[in-house]
Amino acid sequence: MTTTADQSLWLAALPATARPPLTGAHSFDVAVVGGGITGLTTALLLKRRGLRVVVLEADRVASGVSGNNTAKVTALQSTVYSQIRSAHGLAAATDYATASLAAVAQVAELAKGISCDLRRAPAVTYAYTESEVRDVDHELIAARQVGLPVKAAGDVDLPFEVHAAVRLDDQIALHPVKYLRGLADAIDGDGSLVCEHSRVLDVSGHRVSTADGRVTAEKIVIATHYPTLDRGLYFPRLELTRAYCVAARVSAPPQALAISTGSPSWSISAHEDKLILAGQSHPTGKPVVEPFRRLEDFARKHWQVEEITHRWSAQDPTSYDHLPMIGSYTPGNTTLFTATGYMKWGLTSGTFAAGLLADLVTGKPNELAERFSPHRVSLKSLPTLLKKNAEVAVEMVGDRVLPADATSSDDLPAGQAHVVRDGLGKMGVYRDDDGDLHAVSMRCTHLGCFVRFNAAERSWDCPCHGSRFDVDGAVLEGPATRPLPRKKPR
Ligand SMILES: Cc1cc2nc3c(=O)[nH]c(=O)nc-3n(C[C@H](O)[C@H](O)[C@H](O)COP(=O)(O)OP(=O)(O)OC[C@H]3O[C@@H](n4cnc5c(N)ncnc54)[C@H](O)[C@@H]3O)c2cc1C
Ligand code: FES
Repeated sequence: MTTTADQSLWLAALPATARPPLTGAHSFDVAVVGGGITGLTTALLLKRRGLRVVVLEADRVASGVSGNNTAKVTALQSTVYSQIRSAHGLAAATDYATASLAAVAQVAELAKGISCDLRRAPAVTYAYTESEVRDVDHELIAARQVGLPVKAAGDVDLPFEVHAAVRLDDQIALHPVKYLRGLADAIDGDGSLVCEHSRVLDVSGHRVSTADGRVTAEKIVIATHYPTLDRGLYFPRLELTRAYCVAARVSAPPQALAISTGSPSWSISAHEDKLILAGQSHPTGKPVVEPFRRLEDFARKHWQVEEITHRWSAQDPTSYDHLPMIGSYTPGNTTLFTATGYMKWGLTSGTFAAGLLADLVTGKPNELAERFSPHRVSLKSLPTLLKKNAEVAVEMVGDRVLPADATSSDDLPAGQAHVVRDGLGKMGVYRDDDGDLHAVSMRCTHLGCFVRFNAAERSWDCPCHGSRFDVDGAVLEGPATRPLPRKKPR
């Protein structure tokens, strides 16, 4: 029904895993909720420190964003250093660079013994147009200031003119699902356990509950990508951005892990004989026009495309002040921890988050704890926070102020959706390829914002905190946990 999740290049190629769900009552030193890069890396580091750990994954290991990305593990990340330097100063940008370099080394170390197609490759931030040259130049300066061994790159392995580029050698491309399954294998056993199909429904004190089981743990790490627990006020401080990816079989896939700085940005990487192209980012719930077609057009313009083999999309949160949030879930909490806000670079920052979480859980001092604390206050970024929350307030009354598209769905074409008045509210109606109508309430079950149709995904997406629902209302992505109520189509 949708084009998300399991159809990424990475997930589509492998048979589904079958780890057992949690049943009955158990006790562990640490319970980690979420089997993506953050949860699995944290769990493995803690196991290596002698703790008994359980990972509880709602779906399958790596089925979240960690299995639906472009698989670059790099410390050079578009224009991240000029952005952090301008928002937080040089010391913060230097901390981020140090942590990112260490994370790349950590992935290389953890991947030893895991067959995950790891290869070393240069990372490149490039100007696709003249107007992007200034941003690339600024990033070169910022990256040098924070101590990265970058070069101004004249010759970039891309089949079009590049107006300027920064290059960092010896970064990593890998198969993220193979890598994460390897981490899960290393966690399982000797008193530790990885459970799939074990959605955590409640966390209370030291107790974590799923539908069929219960865990008591000294420490609990919420590594669910978007912190799902309704505490800690994360919702107003994170913005979800969705982006689209295609894989195409081409005769000469590029070696570099490249990304352009403009808008739209063109992210380029490769796996075996396939080019991977990503971009067309937009805040979740906001309109997007034919993102897959635009990516495919770009691929065909610059490469000899034999076949488009995969299309997928995913979203990632950015914090209001553009630094990841890693630490105690609520201020001063010594039981419950979380990490989020990776700005689409979480293979690297989820890895350094895991090292920091492992230190916090075991009480080991870490000099980055304050820098990435979820409870820091960034006065410089307060206007962004206030603007974002004013927008959310408008979305909460959206169904009262926005007009309906039609009074009936008789003329609605197949594959399209529209908004129909439903008493005092609105319903969203979608007509499938067989002509059947699907109707749902348009009030997001998280905090009541007005959802929007995403034609590329055939999903109803919430602009407030990024929840997504299929055309029959089932939750595709949280923080919402309850489906949109179904309606009788009109
Ligand atoms: C299009 C795109 C391309 C990207 N490309 C790159 C890239 O090239 N390099 C890079 O570094 N980063 C990239 N990223 C970002 C990166 O993939 C993410 O930041 C990172 O994978 C996030 O990892 P995570 O472990 O926090 O989340 P996830 O991988 O989403 O893991 C969270 C897990 O928690 C589970 N879960 C949720 N709720 C519950 C619950 N209640 N109980 C139990 N389990 C639960 C989910 O099922 C999921 O498996 C990209 C992001 C996007 C959107
Ligand atoms: S209101 Fe929060 S995700 Fe919809």
